[in-house]
Amino acid sequence: MKLIYQQMLSFFAVIITVIVVLGFAFIRTTKTMIYQNSWQQLQQYATSIEKEAIRYNTRTHKVVGFNQQFLNDSTAILRDQHIHFSVYDANKKIVYPNSLGLSNMPTGSFYAPSISSSDWKKLKNNKTITKSPHVSFKSRSQDRPVNKPSLKTIDVLVPLFYKSGSTKKFVGAISIGSFEQTLQANEQQIENNLFIALLVSGIAALLLSFILARYSVRRINRLRYATHSVASGDFDIQVDSNHKDEIDDLADDFNGMVGSLRASDEEIKRQEKRRREFMADAAHEMRTPLTTINGILEGLAYDVIPEEDKGHSIELMQNETKRLIRLVNENLDYEKIRTGQIALNKTNFDGTEVLNNLVEQLTKKAAAAKDTFKLTAPDQLPVWADYDRFVQVLFNIMQNAIQFSQDSVIEVTAKRTEHAAVIAVQDHGIGMTPDQVKNIWERYYKADPSRKNTKYGESGLGLAISHQLVQQHGGTIDVASEANQGTCFTVTFPDEGFDKPIIED
Ligand SMILES: Nc1ncnc2c1ncn2[C@@H]1O[C@H](COP(=O)(O)OP(=O)(O)OP(=O)(O)O)[C@@H](O)[C@H]1O
Ligand SMILES: [Mg+2]
Repeated sequence: MKLIYQQMLSFFAVIITVIVVLGFAFIRTTKTMIYQNSWQQLQQYATSIEKEAIRYNTRTHKVVGFNQQFLNDSTAILRDQHIHFSVYDANKKIVYPNSLGLSNMPTGSFYAPSISSSDWKKLKNNKTITKSPHVSFKSRSQDRPVNKPSLKTIDVLVPLFYKSGSTKKFVGAISIGSFEQTLQANEQQIENNLFIALLVSGIAALLLSFILARYSVRRINRLRYATHSVASGDFDIQVDSNHKDEIDDLADDFNGMVGSLRASDEEIKRQEKRRREFMADAAHEMRTPLTTINGILEGLAYDVIPEEDKGHSIELMQNETKRLIRLVNENLDYEKIRTGQIALNKTNFDGTEVLNNLVEQLTKKAAAAKDTFKLTAPDQLPVWADYDRFVQVLFNIMQNAIQFSQDSVIEVTAKRTEHAAVIAVQDHGIGMTPDQVKNIWERYYKADPSRKNTKYGESGLGLAISHQLVQQHGGTIDVASEANQGTCFTVTFPDEGFDKPIIED
């Protein structure tokens, strides 16, 4: 079943249930009220009959007669209202209407409800009794109750007491009844009105539930269409949200999800591009030395290389082979570090001493690029790391600084924080754009591809390996760079107990 119909049905069911329950409660209350009113009215009639029409014998304290005129008038008036009454003496014998009394019913039956002994007892105790619909008419000829639904009445039994001074004596009772049918006609009228009201409210409920259901289904449909768009690759779609209810929350979550999908889509595309570049770069890096070696081997095979150049050619082949071996080793090294397959032999050593050695080693290379080193370090810099890997990382960073700057001071600053040794290498060279910075940890990445195969034989693996190594030490490596201004690499090696290695899969 479509959601709109489900919602409609539930709204409709709720509204109708409320209306029906209210309707029943209303009918019940009204019915009770109709009965209460009738009993009250009957009681008032009984009181006025007693006052005006009944005569007592003050000596015997018995009902001795009636104001016949008043009774006849009352009987006539009440009969028109379908109300009947009987008067009983102290012995439960009907004294009015007597045998000559008016039989107001066409069938010759008359109103003479039988009073149970328990009711009679209550009357004697001066209690007024109300009776629910029951058979109260008797056939005049057979003196038997007439069990016809049309002759059922609701009654009030009122006790009669003769009072004179302090004397108070039970002298009989009046029973007065009104036809149940009259009440039922009233009830029917109310029920009919209520049924019409129910019908009208049912139609209104149907309309209202349709409007309500359409409103919430529309909001869900908007999310559905947006989901379709995302499924077909549109990651720019956003759903409006007022941040008010659960559907708004869902829309917010959906927007968040689309944002993440967009980001991961971009990342996948970027990775894919990098992968393709990596394959091309790796092939390119290998092809160059292989082509050189192949050329020289052919030259040797066809004996076209002069004898005096052969030594140089072999040296060239050796260099190219070394470069290939370095490339393969570094690639293997990178994979091993990345997957946590290398064991770091961590020790405590003095970082200042290492940095001094590195500066000394690289000073010649720096001088070739007209660079100078400025080392700022404490006398002692305790470092907790694998000594050789620490040298490898800093060597690469410092070598890069020389490689990508000229005529500048390269500042190497070392210091301690509470739980780590921090070394920063700042150059004032060519720098990098933010886009270039994003990729420098990738293998074979070179910000400036024209620098491929420079005289240093750079392959773009140095930073990728350094990054993995620092992560394996549980440290961090950060870069801040600005194009044409310079670059600063900051490496942190945490102390023992604070080094949680990050292993990527
Ligand atoms: N200090 C720097 N200034 C400007 N660019 C830099 C700096 N350090 C690194 N880069 C950029 O990052 C790229 C990657 O550096 P990385 O050390 O990984 O490779 P490489 O130095 O080119 O080769 P390798 O270190 O493997 O011999 C460099 O090619 C360069 O474009
Ligand atoms: Mg490098």
